[in-house]
Amino acid sequence: MDNFNNLIDMDDYTVQQWTEIIELAERIKENPGFYTEACRGKIMATLFYEPSTRTQMSFQAAMLRLGGSLIGFDNPNNSSVAKGENLKDTIKIVSTYADILVMRHNQEGSAKAAALSADCPVINAGDGGHLHPTQTLTDLLTLKCELGRLDNLTVGFCGDLKYGRTVHSLVKALSCFPNNKFVLISTSDLALPSYIKDVLKGRGAEFTEVNTIDEAIKNLDMLYMTRIQRERFDSEDEYLKQRDVYRLTKAKMEYARRDMIVMHPLPRVNEIEVAVDDDPRAAYFRQANNGMYVRMALILYTFTKQPKVKPLLTGEIHNDVICTNPKCVTQTEKYLPHSYVNRGGILVCEYCDERILL
Ligand code: CP
Repeated sequence: MDNFNNLIDMDDYTVQQWTEIIELAERIKENPGFYTEACRGKIMATLFYEPSTRTQMSFQAAMLRLGGSLIGFDNPNNSSVAKGENLKDTIKIVSTYADILVMRHNQEGSAKAAALSADCPVINAGDGGHLHPTQTLTDLLTLKCELGRLDNLTVGFCGDLKYGRTVHSLVKALSCFPNNKFVLISTSDLALPSYIKDVLKGRGAEFTEVNTIDEAIKNLDMLYMTRIQRERFDSEDEYLKQRDVYRLTKAKMEYARRDMIVMHPLPRVNEIEVAVDDDPRAAYFRQANNGMYVRMALILYTFTKQPKVKPLLTGEIHNDVICTNPKCVTQTEKYLPHSYVNRGGILVCEYCDERILL
């Protein structure tokens, strides 16, 4: 049972609640001094099984700026994970030391798995190539600050739409606002997963798929560039085929509208030419800064909002059915119940959203 305000997926909160968090972030950004004692006495655990600069440090800075304290690790090899401790035991223990737990992990569905054994709220700071909801809150705040709205937008997503968890969370979130349209710019090998396209179709959100930035750029309100996620490919050869296919240059920016903005969750490798940074439409460093304010707002919201008591798993348990996603958390955390939502004969893994045809 979920007795806490976990944030595993954006769906854990309503659109109205996202708006409340973003508005709180705007108030904090305007007057950060007002909030310096808001979390005095609270402890945040940051468990980063995967590398991070922005997410980890912005969460840590957020908690410190709210007057709270930190424990955690940024390299699991310096913890008892290196001795073979499973996720359940680590989370069970750390969540009794902390009041809120922020976790990044390489396995898809790991945040939900962590929430199953946690004794405090769990925030998903990225679970493999699956989801990254706090980046989405950052991105929504940035759109609000830069363009003044979250609806009536034409948004281009470019690059690694297959493994880019920030894209998965953001496209789903933006499809909840009226009249947003999406241009998906990728190679066929790195196209948006079909389960996310199905979400767009189900919500009646218009989207087109194209192969080049040039085809799309002139009609966009926002271009969301992404890094090709080298660490998610099955082989280096597969990665090398995709590397450098997309590169936003100063020359390409000439074709964009004067009021278009460029966003990127960062880190950048070489998909945006450094010369673009000087263009006032380059919003990605302002976006990273917004991440700290939105995480301050999320921490406060997590502590102050009355949680809805609801089951974390709502599907059917089929312990004889193994999820076909090799990156699913159930592959290694063998004790987890194999829980699936049955959608007309297709079982959807409740951890990683993989579809399994029976
Ligand atoms: N955007 C983002 O998640 O960056 P980090 O990997 O540096 O945390």
